[in-house]
Amino acid sequence: MPLMRLDKLLGDLGIASRSELRQMIKRGRVTVDGRAVTAPETKVDSEGSSIALDGEELRYKSFRYYMMDKPAGVLSATEDGRQKTVLDLVSPEMRRMGLFPVGRLDKDTSGLLLLTNDGDFAHRVISPKSGIEKRYYARVEGKLDETDREAFRQGLILGDGTKCLPAELELLGEGECLVTVMEGKYHQVKRMLASRGAPVKQLRRLSIGGLVLGNELPAGGWRELEAADIAKLFGQDALEN
Ligand code: URA
Repeated sequence: MPLMRLDKLLGDLGIASRSELRQMIKRGRVTVDGRAVTAPETKVDSEGSSIALDGEELRYKSFRYYMMDKPAGVLSATEDGRQKTVLDLVSPEMRRMGLFPVGRLDKDTSGLLLLTNDGDFAHRVISPKSGIEKRYYARVEGKLDETDREAFRQGLILGDGTKCLPAELELLGEGECLVTVMEGKYHQVKRMLASRGAPVKQLRRLSIGGLVLGNELPAGGWRELEAADIAKLFGQDALEN
């Protein structure tokens, strides 16, 4: 029985601000299983209780979090008239949850993609302010060297004037590298590498924060994230939110 504060539960539904909701609760406008509850901090069963505002029942939508190994050739979108999207790869039950991809991977990029129905979570993962690193493996044409590594470290300025935050370039074997960025501008990694004369032939996202894709999932496979995975994404204090 997942217990949750009544004001938090109503806040997650997005019907009013937390302070407005507290007032509504104190005025007796909210009932739980038919009885008025006037203390906003009351713990209620978020899945089993029937909660109503002014007599109208509200459905609590619980937030869900998944990771997927996105295959190349599939769009990071919820639907598309013509092309296959990542939502076409999941179960019908998941399609009914209102999931959407957290940020985008290009159609030809593979690797770690998160799916959720929690907009705040998605924003936290994507926002450069959160400082969450996204790490990519790239196969490129051309040669990269220490000068390129330093240019990434300083923060690249792309051909159209776009300024990139400092990023990490690790040189692997010939034509292979790892790129770690904290932002997700349009075609960012491809444009960064192209700006150093190394157009991308293949791109795969390996990790987001401390959450590593590894070989656990088949291409197109997915699994639900556990609390420990979410803690890895954000760092130590993630479980409180
Ligand atoms: N950067 C890109 O250029 N493409 C992606 O899909 C992800 C990051």
